[in-house]
Amino acid sequence: MKILVTGGAGYIGSHTCVELLNAGHEIVVVDNLSNSCEKSLDEVKKITGKEFPFYKCDILDYEGLTKVFDENEVEAVIHFAGLKAVGESVEKPLEYYHNNMTGTFNLVKVMKEHNVFNIVFSSSATVYGSPKTVPIKEDFPLSTTNPYGSTKLMLERVLSDVYVSDNRFSVVLLRYFNPIGAHKSGNIGEDPKGIPNNLLPYVAQVAVGRLPKINVFGDCYPTKDGTGVRDYIHVVDLALGHLKAVEKRSNVPGVHIYNLGTGQGYSVLEIVKAFSEACGKDLPYEIVPPRAGDVAICYADASKAKEELGWEAQRGIAEMCADAWNWQSKNPNGFEN
Ligand code: NAD
Ligand code: UD1
Repeated sequence: MKILVTGGAGYIGSHTCVELLNAGHEIVVVDNLSNSCEKSLDEVKKITGKEFPFYKCDILDYEGLTKVFDENEVEAVIHFAGLKAVGESVEKPLEYYHNNMTGTFNLVKVMKEHNVFNIVFSSSATVYGSPKTVPIKEDFPLSTTNPYGSTKLMLERVLSDVYVSDNRFSVVLLRYFNPIGAHKSGNIGEDPKGIPNNLLPYVAQVAVGRLPKINVFGDCYPTKDGTGVRDYIHVVDLALGHLKAVEKRSNVPGVHIYNLGTGQGYSVLEIVKAFSEACGKDLPYEIVPPRAGDVAICYADASKAKEELGWEAQRGIAEMCADAWNWQSKNPNGFEN
């Protein structure tokens, strides 16, 4: 299949490009490089030994996107492009709504004009808000607490409405839990700009000496050790989930919704321990007050993806931390090396 990957230079996108190419698909990548660099795509080419076209194009640019579709016989789109920092979205809501919403409107409009009806969309476990129970199933109530989350929930509804308006569409909504880790080569990985907001890149930067200590946000949650529990999933497993979704659901009209998680919850302190083991040193940490808006426990029931897509996460927490450490230690300053 020829697959357009928007946001393909980013963290999850670049790993997905590798798995799509390894599986024999052709890809075309569109990214404006606002949160990534072209070097990640050079590494994808080296890892796979395959070439593909890259367009430095903003999905807000209708003419630019039209050119991409005119020049390539795209059959399906995997749509990663978007802004993703929760805190920043609270400070800059208009930028987030414009980029994520208008960009997707443009994309779907151009898809329709070119008779492309298969789209896989990056949603997030953030659409479950503060779940009443765990594990979380796809039919749980939905709500959000910040503009980033709202763009995900609104785009889920928009894409569902697009299907209702035109039954040729196959819309796959993938709700990711917490992607971490990196490709085995250590040549692509997560490379956040500035101080990381998320736990794993923060821990990795402490391990490599870029940051002095880990701040553990609260130890009074009703969890095994009082710290927050999340469903961490290896980014390569997540990438393979996209491969299955695009292969099994393209040309199957409808709205298909799947959790992509492992179904296992780990606490912050368990992650600190697992990463300490991976990097071979005890990492310093301090308990600080909880972060506003954080939920205590969040993990997936991923059985629907297993039943319908034949997909299941394979990689455990030790491998996730080892691969994240391999990437970070080989590239202490990310792609800037
Ligand atoms: P990322 O920032 O590494 O990748 C997103 C890519 O999109 C970047 O390369 C960026 O340059 C590009 N982009 C942003 N706006 C664009 C635009 N207007 N036009 C073209 N390109 C644009 O993020 P990621 O972690 O790889 O996340 C990919 C997707 O998955 C995002 O939609 C994100 O919201 C979603 N998601 C991520 C996580 C996570 O924890 N990483 C969790 C749930 C959902
Ligand atoms: C974050 C996003 C969420 C997104 C999800 C997956 C926020 C507020 N939420 O959620 O929208 O869907 O990532 O990408 O950013 N922690 C620390 N110290 C740190 C960082 C985090 O103790 O320096 C704790 C948190 O309190 C939480 C856990 O580690 O318990 C994981 O945090 P994080 O990696 O930010 O992910 P989420 O909170 O799940």
